[in-house]
Amino acid sequence: MGRLDGKIIMITGGGAGIGRAAALLCAQEGARVAIAEFRPELAEATAAAIAAAGGEALALPTDVAEERSVAAAIAAAVARFGGLDVLYNNAGGATGRDGKITELPLDEFWRTIKVDLFGTFLACRLAMPHLVARGGGAIINTTSVRALIGTAGADAYTAAKGGVLALTRALALQWAEHGIRVNAIAPGLVLSERVRGLVDPGSALYRRSALGPAEPADVAHLAVYLASDEARRVTGTVLPVDSGLGALLA
Ligand SMILES: NC(=O)c1ccc[n+]([C@@H]2O[C@H](COP(=O)([O-])OP(=O)(O)OC[C@H]3O[C@@H](n4cnc5c(N)ncnc54)[C@H](O)[C@@H]3O)[C@@H](O)[C@H]2O)c1
Repeated sequence: MGRLDGKIIMITGGGAGIGRAAALLCAQEGARVAIAEFRPELAEATAAAIAAAGGEALALPTDVAEERSVAAAIAAAVARFGGLDVLYNNAGGATGRDGKITELPLDEFWRTIKVDLFGTFLACRLAMPHLVARGGGAIINTTSVRALIGTAGADAYTAAKGGVLALTRALALQWAEHGIRVNAIAPGLVLSERVRGLVDPGSALYRRSALGPAEPADVAHLAVYLASDEARRVTGTVLPVDSGLGALLA
């Protein structure tokens, strides 16, 4: 028996990195998985990998920053699977254009606010009626260790992820009466392919990850727990997977 048997999960950004690892693991645990991903070929590849392993998945080319796109993806997932139990807002990530507040391009601020914060806001807003209709459910948001401790060098992204954290707590309180749990995961340094290309092994974040940098699957395991009924009394929390970074830098 899987830990997510019978559950229907939508994962944004499920085509790569943490989102792909979570999609595969959720399917392995019995969930049917909708992959709302910007790059259609990556969405298809994740769905194909799930199908090849005997699971059920739906690839949905989606831009989380666009209302119509998110609404269409949620509608398609509900039409195919019959409802929605879990929304995992994973799409996002810092880019090499971010930096010091006095130097980073202003359009990079709006890009990350639009994808990481507004994208999360939108998907929560549009999924909520479906979770209510199922009599409860779970939302997993993605913040970052950067929203919990002071780190230099990604000021736009840090601001966006701080907003995600605050939103998570507010939604948890407001929607508990409907049986909807809302939590956030705060990854530290996770070696997705994107991050491997960005991070210097000599950097402070790398060197100070006490157990070494995490792999995408390390975060996916926490997502499975938060999506499952094992976490039925867990809401409004932020759970780091940070290899000790928070303890070292706090
Ligand atoms: N990797 C890390 O070290 C780290 C640390 C802290 C937080 N995080 C967060 O974890 C999440 C996943 O990170 P990752 O390293 O696995 O990233 P990644 O780049 O490997 O994967 C992100 C996926 O999201 C998709 N995506 C991007 N914009 C999108 C959009 N507008 N709509 C739909 N899909 C979109 C990408 O195509 C990609 O497939 C992000 O929110 C990131 O901020 C990651």
